[in-house]
Amino acid sequence: MNALLNQLIETHKNDAQKGNVADYIPELKKTPKDLLGISIIDLNGNSYEAGDCDVKFTLQSISKPIVLLLALMDNGESRVFEKVGKEPTGDPFNSIIRLETYNEHKPLNPMINAGAISVSALVKGKNSSEKIDRILEFMRKITNNPTIQVNEHVFESELATGNRNRSMAYFLHDVGNLEGNVEEALTVYFKQCSIEVTAKDLAYIGAVLAADGVDLTTRERLFPKRYCDIVKSYMATCGMYDGSGEFAINVGIPAKSGVGGGIMCTVLGRMGIGVFGPALDSKGNSYAGLRVLESLSSGLSLSIY
Ligand code: DON
Repeated sequence: MNALLNQLIETHKNDAQKGNVADYIPELKKTPKDLLGISIIDLNGNSYEAGDCDVKFTLQSISKPIVLLLALMDNGESRVFEKVGKEPTGDPFNSIIRLETYNEHKPLNPMINAGAISVSALVKGKNSSEKIDRILEFMRKITNNPTIQVNEHVFESELATGNRNRSMAYFLHDVGNLEGNVEEALTVYFKQCSIEVTAKDLAYIGAVLAADGVDLTTRERLFPKRYCDIVKSYMATCGMYDGSGEFAINVGIPAKSGVGGGIMCTVLGRMGIGVFGPALDSKGNSYAGLRVLESLSSGLSLSIY
């Protein structure tokens, strides 16, 4: 397997030139464009890797399914689904248009920014710092990595520039779909996006999802199977934003991308995959990362369809 992964990285390394590192969050612009790494962890805990799989980057939107799991455990399904829907949008991740036109003014799903901010507000805690501490504690468990931290420079950069997220959050508060203090909810959202991980951490999360919520090492159940199924369904239908349909056809596994360049994938009953390539396509997904996953999926027959 390691030989296959090394070959995939060699084959696709130059694809990074066709993408661009996210520049709307100034701190992300500093990342070298041509990094590329992959890590795979199977359900027996065996790990395989190639390329830049130890380089740290920020979780960004990959935090959305993770915080959703915590919000579901804190609140139960019915309360969470009062605030967010279950349908893909076909719109960009930061789109604002349907918030006003959709009749309930409810974000269509928790994988777009608007839905994710409503979900961040639902995490239990008396203020943003208690909520983010709980998110970090959960992150450390589902990555089996006690060193997981927030990158404070990226957080400050998001806080200073996230005006579109801010405007969506105030709109959602006005229509009753974001509870509590809006700035506190935004702080939680920007901090969860700024949590630093490696491709290996993403592979571990993907493997826990592939094992229906049971930790690979301790065999402890980290979240209920029902919530695992909900999150995997969202990943399959909305995980790559307006690139989700194409990804389903070309790769065919539940996955979640982030503008930090990560993609976290889960192959039901088989393995977790973490990919890192910071140069993005026009939809905010790792350009070279997608090419690596297409080749891997056809090589190992991973598609679930
Ligand atoms: O809300 C934002 O702009 C970012 N912090 C996260 C967005 C993101 O990762 C979209 N992903 N592809």
